Amino acid sequence: MKIIKSDLHAIAVAPKQYPQDELPEIAFAGRSNVGKSSFINSMINRKNLARTSGKPGKTRTINFYIINDKFRFVDLPGYGYAQVSKAEREKWGVIIEKFLVTRENLREVILIVDIRHEPTEQDLMMYDWIKSLGYAGIVIATKADKISKANYQKQVKIVRKKLGINDSNLIIPYSSEKNINKDELWSIFKQIINQKNDQ
Ligand code: GTP
Ligand code: MG
Repeated sequence: MKIIKSDLHAIAVAPKQYPQDELPEIAFAGRSNVGKSSFINSMINRKNLARTSGKPGKTRTINFYIINDKFRFVDLPGYGYAQVSKAEREKWGVIIEKFLVTRENLREVILIVDIRHEPTEQDLMMYDWIKSLGYAGIVIATKADKISKANYQKQVKIVRKKLGINDSNLIIPYSSEKNINKDELWSIFKQIINQKNDQ
């Protein structure tokens, strides 16, 4: 994918703040600190458009990034961050839930996990929820640069087992540092973006 333009389009905590147009969107969900914002930056060749941090809990709003004026990537707040109050966690839950349940522009919600670790119960809940909403259930296993290629299959198997994924095509190792599988992901995203719309 040739990226001509990318910009922050909107920051939202409620539906009235979402962009009001028909552009297709792909959203990225996952635990805090797993690398969602880094993933978006690396796919669109930007160093710091989506703000990242070594500390969990960086992205606390729904951030919409518009790409080539044609489609958007949506960075969701990470879950599973223990260092926040219960009230704040519930607030984030509501923010994410409203978006996933009501957003008509959404073509796909993709779960991002860390290739090095078995997914958590919260990952499993999120994954089951994504599928129950009718999405394909694509999982990106990021930070693949932190393990050797020889270990990909072993780790992917652990992720598949925990999340109950039968189709091995649904899980893709990735690295935001090394751009591993970037072209393959763009071809998947292009298909998603071109589904059911004329863009
Ligand atoms: P929240 O906004 O808190 O939900 O986190 P996030 O999922 O957006 O994570 P973020 O992109 O901020 O990345 C967290 C940390 O992981 C940062 O220090 C990144 O540099 C690092 N990181 C993200 N992706 C990769 C990767 O593919 N490889 C390596 N080595 N580090 C990564
Ligand atoms: Mg983030």
